[in-house]
Amino acid sequence: MGKLIIAIDGPSGTGKSTTARLLAEKLNLPYVDSGIFYRAITYLLFKNKIKPDEIKRIEQIAKKINLEFKDEDVYLNGINVTKEIRTLDVTNRVSSVSKIKEIRKIIVEKLRNYAGSRGVVMDGRDIGTVVFPEANYKFYFFCDLNTRAARRQQDFLDLGHKIPLKKILLELKKRDELDKNRKDSPLKISDDAIELDTTNLIIEEQVDFIYKRIVSANNMLNNEL
Ligand code: DC
Repeated sequence: MGKLIIAIDGPSGTGKSTTARLLAEKLNLPYVDSGIFYRAITYLLFKNKIKPDEIKRIEQIAKKINLEFKDEDVYLNGINVTKEIRTLDVTNRVSSVSKIKEIRKIIVEKLRNYAGSRGVVMDGRDIGTVVFPEANYKFYFFCDLNTRAARRQQDFLDLGHKIPLKKILLELKKRDELDKNRKDSPLKISDDAIELDTTNLIIEEQVDFIYKRIVSANNMLNNEL
C-alpha cells in the first residue's frame, strides 16, 4: 500500500476516536485525534482568561501550540494536560472556540503535517471535507443520541466525574448544533464518505468494518477476514 489517509468524521460519542486509534494500530499508521487540538486551545484561552474576540492574542497562542502524544497521554508545550483537556469546562466551551475561523486555519495546517510519508488515520469533524479532501478513505459515523450520551457519561466516569445523563444530553445537543451550523467548515457528510451507524455496534465491529473495506479495496482480502 502507498500513502494511506483515512478520515473518520462524525459527532461526539459515536466511537470515532477509539475506532481510529485501534485501526491505526492495526494498519501500523500514525493516529491523530484532531479534537484534542481544539480542546488544547480552548484550555489555554480559558486558563489565560482570553476572550473570543482577542483574535491577535488567540492567533499567537494557537501558532505556538505543540502537541505530543505518548501512550494515552497528551503533552501541550511539554506539559501533561490529558485530564485538563477533558474537563466539562473545556468540553462545554470547545465548540464556541472551534468556530473561530482564524483558529481553524492554524489548526488545519498543523493537522496536515501529520500525514507524513506513510499517511495517517485522523478523526474529527472536517477531516474528509477540509483537512484531507483527497483522503483515500472517508467515513462518517453517526449514532442514536441516547447511546452517545450514555457513552460520554461512561467516559466521564472513567475520569472520576459522575455527571447526570440529562446534563450530558443537553450538552451534546448544544455541541451538535454549534458544530453543524458554524459558518466555517461545519460538521457535514462528505459526498464520498461511507456512512456507518454505530448505535448497535461494538468497537471491534467498527474497526473491522473499515479494515475490511481497505484491505478488500487493495486486493489483499485473505481467508482470515
Ligand atoms: O472530538 P471531540 O469531542 O474531542 O471534539 C471537541 C470539539 O472540537 C468539537 O465539539 C468540535 C471541535 N472539532 C472541530 O471543530 N473540528 C475537528 N476536526 C475536531 C473537533
